[in-house]
Amino acid sequence: MNSLTMTPAYNAIPKFLQQQSYKNPTDQAPFNLAYQTDLPVFKWREHNPENAKVGQAFMAAQRIGQRSVWDNQVPMQDFQLSREDIVNDRVLVCDVGGGSGHQCLDLRKHHPSLTGRIVTEDLGTMQELSTIRDELAKQNITMQPHDFFQEQPIKGAKVYYLRNVIHNWNDEPSKVILSQIAKAMSPDLVVIVDDVIMPLAAMERTKDHFSQLLSDSGLQLRDVWTYDSDYGDSFIVAVPNDSTSSAEANGHATNGDATNGHSVA
Ligand SMILES: C[S@@+](CC[C@H](N)C(=O)[O-])C[C@H]1O[C@@H](n2cnc3c(N)ncnc32)[C@H](O)[C@@H]1O
Repeated sequence: MNSLTMTPAYNAIPKFLQQQSYKNPTDQAPFNLAYQTDLPVFKWREHNPENAKVGQAFMAAQRIGQRSVWDNQVPMQDFQLSREDIVNDRVLVCDVGGGSGHQCLDLRKHHPSLTGRIVTEDLGTMQELSTIRDELAKQNITMQPHDFFQEQPIKGAKVYYLRNVIHNWNDEPSKVILSQIAKAMSPDLVVIVDDVIMPLAAMERTKDHFSQLLSDSGLQLRDVWTYDSDYGDSFIVAVPNDSTSSAEANGHATNGDATNGHSVA
């Protein structure tokens, strides 16, 4: 079997769906059938580094040719530190489940004037595979090994960012991931889930589904900024549940502003 790619998992989809009686799976996926394992894919990859390397390369390359999200596609108002924050060496961005760190590097390249530390987190075994470690260090981007089901080690960062992470998990594990962040948050910061918002119910989530998931995790939906309407790729922006911030109170743009596909929650 070709264990370098996920092709066997795609090929297993018809048989898997039949075995599941065409119901939504809860803890298994076609991947498990294809590779004859009960391990979730990311745990399995810890024992299969060649597959993990290919997976990382895919995640870094999948949007090549598309306009970067950091290329003025979304408002950057949340990515600002105060003078006090800078003096206190506050982390500006913590990229949770950031893979090899490519999104952080892209952020720095598009916004070189952003002040503050950027931290990219992922499982240690995955970070060791990153081919851009030197470049990250040069750009003041720190790699922090972290299992996102455990206590968040970076407390009080200004922005917690999760791209294509939540869509890998069902609601219960997603709530654990988001709750760990909510516990590490201070009132003035935001969580940005960068994922697809589906117009209809599907395995990817709808806006209402995200809103409920965030609320169950101690957060509240503040804004939705869709930056690729073909795919539904969106920034789902959340703040702590007890935060007094609201779109209007913070002067955030409301419906009709120039932002691509923007809507206020
Ligand atoms: C679909 S990839 C997204 C990577 C990156 N955020 C991006 O957008 O390219 C999901 C990431 O979650 C990481 N991951 C999976 N389980 C994890 C865990 N328990 N703790 C931390 N990271 C995990 C994987 O290693 C992988 O890098």
